[in-house]
Amino acid sequence: MDVFKSEFVASSPNVRNCPNELIPEFAFIGRSNVGKSSLINSICKKKKIAKVSGKPGKTQLINHFKINDSWYLTDLPGYGYAKLSKKKKKNIDKLINDYFLYRKQIKLIFLIIDIRHKPLEIDLDFMSWLLNQEKKFTIIFSKSDKLKGGEVIAREYMLELKNKLNKKLEYFITSSKKKVGIDDVLAHIYSCNVL
Ligand code: GTP
Ligand code: MG
Repeated sequence: MDVFKSEFVASSPNVRNCPNELIPEFAFIGRSNVGKSSLINSICKKKKIAKVSGKPGKTQLINHFKINDSWYLTDLPGYGYAKLSKKKKKNIDKLINDYFLYRKQIKLIFLIIDIRHKPLEIDLDFMSWLLNQEKKFTIIFSKSDKLKGGEVIAREYMLELKNKLNKKLEYFITSSKKKVGIDDVLAHIYSCNVL
């Protein structure tokens, strides 16, 4: 269960243009700037395979990374970045929705939440939308190095989710900076029995 090979395959402006190889795919989604691309770098043990920035809105396309010649990690643009123009925001929302609606290769969705954030309406709305589409997702709390007591905060967040969504979800606590929880996420990918 290790990543011995990782390579960038393609950046696609929409789901129709994504690589058409039928191999299992694991997607990373969440609000802008929560650390999706950083998590992909951590899993690949590379600093810059996915582009990272301190400024939200860095990832604007659907990026496929092929792992161990046999499965994909997908880095997506973040949702909810308020500073984009209306048109750009609409394009990104459509790109994200279409990807989850039509990309058949997706085996699991990781929904990333910055551990410092309380449950936000935009995240709850996106989770509800995924559940309505019968899409399975796992929560990853990111940036755990930014505060103490992450486990308690995560448990409270999950309890609120259970009440609001009527669904019990799995979760992981990670820090790309301190390399916390990365192996657990990788083990979870392998435990999906699709690789
Ligand atoms: P978009 O592509 O804009 O949607 O953002 P993203 O979710 O891909 O976030 P990205 O990985 O680009 O990281 C955003 C910022 O958070 C960067 O400045 C990262 O260095 C920082 N960051 C990411 N992960 C961590 C972490 O685990 N700890 C800390 N302290 N900072 C992090
Ligand atoms: Mg990104």
